Amino acid sequence: MILVTGGAGFIGGNFVLDWLAQHDEPVINLDKLTYAGNLDTLASLKDDPRHLFVRGDIGDRELIARLLAEHRPRAVINFAAESHVDRSISGPGEFIQTNVVGTFNLLEAVRGYWKELEGEAKQAFRFLHVSTDEVYGTLSADDAPFAETNAYEPNSPYSASKAASDHLVRAWHHTYGLPVLTTNCSNNYGPYHFPEKLIPLVILNAQAGKPLPIYGDGQQVRDWLYVKDHCAAIRRVLEAGRLGETYNVGGWNEKPNLEVVHTICAMLDELRPRADGEHYASQITFVQDRPGHDRRYAIDATKLSRELGWKPAETFDTGIRKTVAWYLDNQDWIDNVTSGAYRDWVATQYGA
Ligand code: NAD
Ligand code: TYD
Repeated sequence: MILVTGGAGFIGGNFVLDWLAQHDEPVINLDKLTYAGNLDTLASLKDDPRHLFVRGDIGDRELIARLLAEHRPRAVINFAAESHVDRSISGPGEFIQTNVVGTFNLLEAVRGYWKELEGEAKQAFRFLHVSTDEVYGTLSADDAPFAETNAYEPNSPYSASKAASDHLVRAWHHTYGLPVLTTNCSNNYGPYHFPEKLIPLVILNAQAGKPLPIYGDGQQVRDWLYVKDHCAAIRRVLEAGRLGETYNVGGWNEKPNLEVVHTICAMLDELRPRADGEHYASQITFVQDRPGHDRRYAIDATKLSRELGWKPAETFDTGIRKTVAWYLDNQDWIDNVTSGAYRDWVATQYGA
């Protein structure tokens, strides 16, 4: 079996669902269930004996050691993190605690387990750390996309904490020989995305008749990857990645934020037109920019495609259509995640 951390979140949840749709290999899913963790995402696995959910913290070394000793997984995949840049600006402490200290404790528990493995089990064991392109900092319009050889230049408390965790993972390989793999992926979108992030926030606000907040001039560029393509990349790296290597994962889909929002609005105009006949784009509202806002991210995923043959299955056009349709069809999931804690965040971040 495999142990996944953060598997009640957006990407981890999609990963667990896809994994069990494709394999019978069981998954232990360790998640703290912060505001971003949601068991509704895993509702279809409720009575599935291949899925064991454990509520817990990656920083709880004894718990992890106990789970590893009891279930003896062949791999650990670490998705668990605090992941939202805006929250890292208003409260960086949790980011240091989970992303840095938590990853350290997880690595130590895994090292203790791996050290005692023998023969084939030791050879085959993998620790895969899921990270972000944001560790590389920001690009100008004419810079080449981030390659694995770019220097780390994180700019936000979030990206700095992820960069720190990547460095710990690297060091545990070089110093202790822990068999690690790291992936650095661009912005994901798709089903089960918590609506504090741009794409689901815009889909939900549009239908609720609320403003669609664009930070600054809306010309910041992100490279968007459909979440299921990211999950496929992780499975491929787990299967065949070279030990100690990092792999950039990206969609070859650079888009300015304003264009992304206009695309979503046009899709909603078509699929769920406003009762008053107005366009959803009329709800676009420019708001104060994010402090230290990175201007452009772009990923060069050549290494992953050359060495491991991975390519995204979705273009932005096909992926965003599936995503908008999913949000229109899954009102129950939305109602559950947009309760208490979510409303508090929206009130704090966007005011009245
Ligand atoms: P998310 O915020 O949706 O989910 C994070 C999950 O981790 C939640 O279920 C949460 O409950 C859990 N968690 C948080 N702290 C924990 C702790 N201390 N112990 C155990 N569980 C804890 O995040 P996501 O978007 O699914 O991102 C998953 C991973 O992928 C993160 O490491 C993130 O840095 C990375 N990543 C995200 C993106 C993106 O666009 N979302 C892109 C590249 C990389
Ligand atoms: P986000 O989804 O938070 O991801 P990240 O900051 O990790 O890239 O934001 C994506 C882009 O959208 C980013 O440039 C910030 C911008 N943005 C807005 O313009 N308005 C919003 O309300 C949010 C949440 C993000």
